Amino acid sequence: MRTLSPSWSGALLAFSLAGASLTGNVHSVRPVRSSDGPVFSRYAVAADHPEASAAGAAVLAQGGNAADAAAATMLALGVVSPASSGLGGGGFALYYRARDKTLTFLDFRETAPGKASADMFRERPGDTAEIAQARSQRGGLAVAVPGEPQGIAELVKRFGKKPLSFSVKPAEQLARTGFTVSPHFRRMAAFGGEALAQKPAFSSVFGNPLQNSADGATRAKNPALAATLRKFAQTGPKLFYSGPLAKQIVQAVRREGGILEASDLARYRVVERAPLRAQLLGYEWVSAPPPSAGGYTVLTSLALLSRALPAAEQGAGIERLHALIESWKGPYLDRQRYFGDPDRVAVPLPALLDPARSEERARRFKKSQALPTQKYDLPLPESAAPAAAHDDHGTSHLCVVDEEGNVAAVTTTINLVFGAQIPVGGFWLNNEMDDFAREVGKENAFGLLGGAPNLPGPHKRPVSSMAPTIVFSGDAPILCVGGSGGSRIPTAVEQVALYVLKDGLHPLAASAAARVHHQGDPDQVGVRDVPEPMQKALAARGHRVIPAGFSASVQAIRIGPAGAQHLLAGSDPAKGGEPRGE
Ligand code: DON
Repeated sequence: MRTLSPSWSGALLAFSLAGASLTGNVHSVRPVRSSDGPVFSRYAVAADHPEASAAGAAVLAQGGNAADAAAATMLALGVVSPASSGLGGGGFALYYRARDKTLTFLDFRETAPGKASADMFRERPGDTAEIAQARSQRGGLAVAVPGEPQGIAELVKRFGKKPLSFSVKPAEQLARTGFTVSPHFRRMAAFGGEALAQKPAFSSVFGNPLQNSADGATRAKNPALAATLRKFAQTGPKLFYSGPLAKQIVQAVRREGGILEASDLARYRVVERAPLRAQLLGYEWVSAPPPSAGGYTVLTSLALLSRALPAAEQGAGIERLHALIESWKGPYLDRQRYFGDPDRVAVPLPALLDPARSEERARRFKKSQALPTQKYDLPLPESAAPAAAHDDHGTSHLCVVDEEGNVAAVTTTINLVFGAQIPVGGFWLNNEMDDFAREVGKENAFGLLGGAPNLPGPHKRPVSSMAPTIVFSGDAPILCVGGSGGSRIPTAVEQVALYVLKDGLHPLAASAAARVHHQGDPDQVGVRDVPEPMQKALAARGHRVIPAGFSASVQAIRIGPAGAQHLLAGSDPAKGGEPRGE
């Protein structure tokens, strides 16, 4: 039986400890009550850090809209929660504009350097598995071209009401005057055999705020990031893609053995893509398209659920848990075999989304018996399989709903804890290269097996699990949801959405409720806060049940009936997040 990689197991532990105090019970489904969590009547921001939510809320209070607030929240997250996301990373934004009811998906995922090649992470003679894996996770080769600065600027330019400098202000102030070091920050800085907090890279950015921090109220500053943010406010995203800061990025990466070049930064572009949409269980679900496999996993899982379970069995209970677990096995196989950067590889989406596939998987599904993952394998005919490559050529989720009814669902990441652990200008460069397949069949930090369409290549975007999602009832948005946690993202996003929409839980209760996770391979179900009798019932159906090493951290806002702003906002307690609003 394959196990998760040792280099990441420390992180799994860190996450599992973070979630250990959560309570949740699939039996105790309650209708939504205001007392179950925060409720706002004008606008709301749910991020996984209270000061980041507050930054977005301040922008809304001063007349900004959801796009301005999402930008401010992302920038503040880079200051107060720098292990997870920041200007050195990338992400996806799904934006609903109420005025004309349009939905836009912005892909600001990182791209591989032009010198990247399919065999760049192949094991070399003398490598141990750890050394081979570390190459895509730490140091220069792990770094892909950041998309975050352009993504933020693009979101504001297209949809914002205020200039970019307006959204930069709260983050700049936090970096300059200081912020509280959260328990999550502390855990992440201290994490791993060789804790980052002990390395010069860390003190070069933060000094040493953790040394005298026993009271838990230590504050840290990041003057270098404050300076970068001031320049960003003045010059916009080109600051990061040409000129002196771009040069510093290239130098820092190359010093650490990387292959990034100035021209890689210069050619970076945000891409607008059509989001995936499907009518399922009485709602319209809109989520992330490739290069993410997250939206696909959520939608195809729901498609099986809606076919395999009569409505009466769709409530939280053993039938749904079992069906959810079974429903993920096929999509994770599909991901490995067919998903890659849609600009470089022809992802056979129409064939994959053909309802006949869900029908077939629903036929194979057995209500009282777990099937081996391979039983859900549905290889596409050769003609539909990915064509050859085209020629040329830590994470955080936040939701914002503003007074006009605009909705921003944004998931942003530098991948693992403090990314590649290389700081430049006060921010941390991502290690998104680990989301590529190091080799076909080799696993990444999240235990996902690499597939050929996702091998590294020049300027290619790695496949992601991120799934910023907006759910509609009729033509009104009723739920914004998304999460962080690598391969656990789609399964967690889907479960939280079902708890809210089908079981009436407040998003806060939903994010802390029982969770299961299965990613096809290894054939095992990770459980968090699933009651003992339920675990036994799963085992009796043939599931191999293990404690979840860690689970995703989910933020969500349930939007009340059209016309009445009634916003139930929840930030996953596991990361210490809290929403803000009015
Ligand atoms: O895009 C992805 O799927 C990953 N880079 C996400 C990483 C992540 O969620 C880490 N968070 N805990």
